Amino acid sequence: MTIVHSWGPPPSGAMPGTTLERHILERQRQTPGATGDFSGLFQQISLAGKLINARVRQAGLAGMLGLTGQTNVQGEQVQKLDEFANNVMIRSCEAGGHLCLMASEEDDDVIKIPERFPTGKYVLLFDPLDGSSNIDVGVTIGTIFSIQRRVTMGRSGQLADCLQRGSTQVAAGYILYGSSTMLVYTTGDGVHGFTYDPSAGEFFLSHENIRVPQKGGTYSLNEGNYSRWSDGLRAWVDWLKQDDKSTGRPYGARYVGSLVADFHRTLLKGGVFAYPSDTKSPKGKLRLLYEASPLAFIAEAAGGAASDGDQRILDVEPKELHQRTPLFIGSREDVETALAFAHGRR
Ligand code: AHG
Ligand code: MN
Ligand code: MN
Repeated sequence: MTIVHSWGPPPSGAMPGTTLERHILERQRQTPGATGDFSGLFQQISLAGKLINARVRQAGLAGMLGLTGQTNVQGEQVQKLDEFANNVMIRSCEAGGHLCLMASEEDDDVIKIPERFPTGKYVLLFDPLDGSSNIDVGVTIGTIFSIQRRVTMGRSGQLADCLQRGSTQVAAGYILYGSSTMLVYTTGDGVHGFTYDPSAGEFFLSHENIRVPQKGGTYSLNEGNYSRWSDGLRAWVDWLKQDDKSTGRPYGARYVGSLVADFHRTLLKGGVFAYPSDTKSPKGKLRLLYEASPLAFIAEAAGGAASDGDQRILDVEPKELHQRTPLFIGSREDVETALAFAHGRR
């Protein structure tokens, strides 16, 4: 990965840094047959990111903290910022004419494009605010998105357009509202990170061609669930904690509790994040379409791996919109070790 230290607005007279928009346009020019739809859609997503970011940064002041009192389709309490982020994503992206359908973690059903707007060839799936339990405590949260090409005909898209394997994603990414605000995306060949400069109101290329190390030194999972795990999983985590210099053990433990933040760290530094199935959540906790699949697309494009314990996340055929999945994601070697233990091969 090249860390571009000169991001941000240029001193007067100097060449400007590469904005997200320019980066996408330049790549689009190199793609034969590209219509510009894709860069248009990305502009809407980054606009949504900027608006959500602004609200996240003043959440405590603007009275946006706390619960709305409603529960979402997953049976979890909806927080005000979740609702705001969901609305902003929908309103920013519905009017551009690039989409035929959307789906959000916060909505039970697919989100149709209102009749007054044109439709297009893409489908957008998103988790508007990931890590919502961290909103009230000033910890990193984010927006995760996945873009698929539609497979049905007609004005409006259909459920089948959403229920596609992760391997067919056109692009995936996330916006991280952390110590800085970053947008990370891939179209499948190379993962690029952009840092937001609030004074310029732009995302500037800061992390070009991110590669996840083949092996890391940290593990990230909610160890409070230890008693609910399988024996294999427990053996894996016990092994990670043993002292053995030759294999880089013990691993360090890092768990933010916002997938997007735990993933971002794992992407840049290596290691493994896991949310396995357990006796309380036999199918896992995380959502395939809004969380696991887009992050798996990014992980693989950066040279890492992502599995549900049995198969590549990107090969899983979604059966329903809000499907949950176990997830092991990060450095290739660390994911493989986890799977070997989970299957009793070690
Ligand atoms: P969300 O805020 O979108 O509902 O997602 C929360 C998820 C994910 O961000 C995180 O990895 C996981 O929940 C944490 O779960 P535990 O509290 O069970 O560790
Ligand atoms: Mn989430
Ligand atoms: Mn969410």
